Amino acid sequence: MSWEVKKILVPTDGSPKAELAVAPALEIARLKGAEIVVLSVLAAPFESSCFTGTGAAEGAQVIEELKVELAQQSADRIVKRASEAGLSARAVIRSGSPADEILKVAEQEDVDLIVMGTKGATGTRRLLGSVTMSVISHAPCPVLAVREKEYTLPLYERARRM
Ligand SMILES: Nc1ncnc2c1ncn2[C@@H]1O[C@H](COP(=O)(O)OP(=O)(O)OP(=O)(O)O)[C@@H](O)[C@H]1O
Ligand SMILES: [Mg+2]
Repeated sequence: MSWEVKKILVPTDGSPKAELAVAPALEIARLKGAEIVVLSVLAAPFESSCFTGTGAAEGAQVIEELKVELAQQSADRIVKRASEAGLSARAVIRSGSPADEILKVAEQEDVDLIVMGTKGATGTRRLLGSVTMSVISHAPCPVLAVREKEYTLPLYERARRM
């Protein structure tokens, strides 16, 4: 039985830990002839009360524009890598709860696979970040969660010595 993979969703928060998922995603896309959809989700806007006094509205506006620009740039960076590898890729930008938006886009785009980091910008000390945990728990398709290789080395070394 073959496993059809026509579309792969690669969510990114722009962090190096999210970037770890890109190489495996591109390699699977190459092997399966799949299209890459890169998703960057903007966090909710700052509370307007964070800004007070003259220029408060403008300050909030600038921050929002910067957030959009950063999200777009991090998605575009991955699209560029995919295009340079000869793959078909496009960026999608959403705002809201990252996990909810990843799940929604996975449904709407009818993706066959999600490839993401086990962790992201926070670099939580837990095995999985909260976004990955939620996506793995509710995704309508398989999820490949990629972590840093270094984590496996001490265990591997120990096993080898046994
Ligand atoms: N805003 C986002 N937009 C798109 N993908 C995201 C976003 N935030 C996280 N992700 C995806 O989820 C993966 C894991 O990030 P997650 O946020 O779960 O971990 P964390 O930042 O280390 O911890 P936490 O956010 O729970 O404190 C990232 O590698 C990325 O693939
Ligand atoms: Mg996070």
